[in-house]
Amino acid sequence: MTSADMDYLTIALPKGKLFAPSVDLLSKIGVSANDVHEKSRKLVISNEEKKVRFIITKTGDLPTYVEYGAADIGIIGKDVLLEESKDVYELLDLKFGLCRLMVAVPQALKKDKISDYAHMRVATKYPNVAERFFREMGIQMEIIKLNGSIELAPMVGLAEIIVDIVETGRTLKENQLLEIAQIHKATARFIANRVSMKMKFDRIHGIVEDLKCLLESEDKQ
Ligand code: PRP
Repeated sequence: MTSADMDYLTIALPKGKLFAPSVDLLSKIGVSANDVHEKSRKLVISNEEKKVRFIITKTGDLPTYVEYGAADIGIIGKDVLLEESKDVYELLDLKFGLCRLMVAVPQALKKDKISDYAHMRVATKYPNVAERFFREMGIQMEIIKLNGSIELAPMVGLAEIIVDIVETGRTLKENQLLEIAQIHKATARFIANRVSMKMKFDRIHGIVEDLKCLLESEDKQ
C-alpha cells in the first residue's frame, strides 16, 4: 500500500439494483462524493476533502476488487458472496436488497420431488451456488452458466431448470415459472479487505459503527 493509498479510503459500489440504495445509505453517514452515478462513464470518483474514492464495478467483480485490496471496502449482495467465495471480511448485514436464491421450473415441467430433475440442465448466473446445492442433495445436474435473462433459458429449451435470484417474483410469474426450492436468502453486505481492516482500522470501524447506528435508528421508526 502506497502512502497515497493510505490517505484514501476506496469504496467499491456495484452496478445494478444495489447501487442507488448503497449510495443513499453511505451519504446518510456523510460518506459521499459529487457525481456518483451508476451511468457515469467516470469509474473512479474522488472526494478530496473527505479522502474517499468511489469505484463502480460489475456486480460479480466487486468481491475481487476488495479481496485484492484495489478497494478497501464495498457493498455487495450475499448472493454474489456465496457465488464468488472470496477472502474478504463480511462486516455487516445492511438489510436492504432482500432477495432469494431459488430453483425454479416451468409450470408444465413441475415434478413431485427435486430428485426427479436429476441429470437435467440448469441455467444460472450462479454456477457455484447451483453446483453446491445439487451436490449436497446428491443430485447430479448439468450446469449451464449464463450472464443474464436466465428465465429465457427454459422457454427456448436451453435448460429445464433455473437457479436465480427472485425479488418480487414478477419475472417468474410473467414467464410461467414456479419456485421449487429455496437455496438461500440474500441481502446487501458491507465487506472489507483483510489488510485494509488492519491498516485503516479506525476509518473502517467508524463507518461500520455509523452504519449500525443508522440501521438501528431506521429500525425503530
Ligand atoms: C434479476 C434476476 C431475475 C430478476 C428477479 O435480474 O436474475 O431475472 O432480477 O426480480 P423479480 O423477482 O423482482 O422479477 P436482473 O434484473 O438483475 O437482470 P438480468 O436477468 O439481466 O441479470
